[in-house]
Amino acid sequence: MAESIIELKDVNMTFQRGWLMRRAQLQAVVKTTLDIKEGEILALVGESGCGKTTVGKIMAGLLRPTSGEVLFKGKDIWRMGREEFREYRRNAQIVHQDSYAALNPVRTIYHSLSAPFLRYHIAKNGKEAREKVAELLQFMGLTPPEEFLDKYPHQLSGGQRQRVVVARAVSLRPKLIVADEPVSMIDVSLRLSILDLMHRLNEEFGIAFLYITHDLATARYFVKGGQIAVMYLGQMVETGRLSEVLQKPCHPYLQALLSAVPVPDPKKAREKRPLPLRSLEFPDPTKPPSGCRFHPRCPYAEDICTQEIPALRPLDGRLIACHLAEKIPEWHLL
Ligand SMILES: Nc1ncnc2c1ncn2[C@@H]1O[C@H](COP(=O)(O)OP(=O)(O)OP(=O)(O)O)[C@@H](O)[C@H]1O
Ligand code: SF4
Ligand SMILES: [Mg+2]
Repeated sequence: MAESIIELKDVNMTFQRGWLMRRAQLQAVVKTTLDIKEGEILALVGESGCGKTTVGKIMAGLLRPTSGEVLFKGKDIWRMGREEFREYRRNAQIVHQDSYAALNPVRTIYHSLSAPFLRYHIAKNGKEAREKVAELLQFMGLTPPEEFLDKYPHQLSGGQRQRVVVARAVSLRPKLIVADEPVSMIDVSLRLSILDLMHRLNEEFGIAFLYITHDLATARYFVKGGQIAVMYLGQMVETGRLSEVLQKPCHPYLQALLSAVPVPDPKKAREKRPLPLRSLEFPDPTKPPSGCRFHPRCPYAEDICTQEIPALRPLDGRLIACHLAEKIPEWHLL
């Protein structure tokens, strides 16, 4: 069994919101546990505002959680010495959705991409850095590289810019890339080619991915035999092998999410029954429901659901956070 590359253990993240009298606390991530093995792909899925980016930033060491542990190869990153932390940061890169904001507009592609090579002494001088950047651009499908080296970000298309951003993330051969909605701002026609490129990076260099998305279709396409984790309002609700979890979702929230996805086959569409939610309203995240945060909408909720936060526990080959998981009816979609 592969070793864990990154693990979150019982992680909580609370933000302070507002100012003076209107201050409020927002618990964006609640008691979250997640484990990505070396070379594994995990899709983190959930609706807008459920805490996906916060989890991604915590994994990449950009945010320090309020409590809980973040382990890189078994070591708590917030207890590491300076050198060790620097090495971890080199190994855990992040790709954001907005490639324009990610690149310095007054730096050429060569300057943006050569900086990490020079900073980490992977290239001895400018000439060697230029050769390495050209090789990297070639691998990323930006050919011929000479056409791109001296361009500025605004001279590239969105798809080309995102390839440059992925190139920068991969230049130091990290062990993990957190890809936060990496294709959501790219033309639909180019999305699959960027996902294919990231998949090649996973296969050829063994880079593990946390793929953050609200789109189940791209998660399915990119993750293939990997894992999925589903979040609802800061709580992890179900994790496991993607094919099994989406084939037979156990958690009522995931069942509801899947029943809202249109299916192309008219026969299957007729068979699909929407899960009758008790409420369609998304709760105010500053005043989250007690216990299971899904309880005001869940058709199966009982008293315990309003009182206790359900822990993630093993069931049916996956982990699920639902007090009544054994009693939830099966929901066959596929
Ligand atoms: N720095 C911050 N200060 C205060 N609140 C924050 C901060 N960052 C995130 N939040 C809040 O935490 C919650 C989770 O935000 P997050 O960006 O992680 O969600 P998300 O799932 O990535 O959403 P989206 O799909 O829209 O990107 C939201 O309610 C958000 O407003
Ligand atoms: S814990 Fe209760 S409210 Fe939450 S999903 Fe399970 S049955 Fe529904
Ligand atoms: Mg986000």
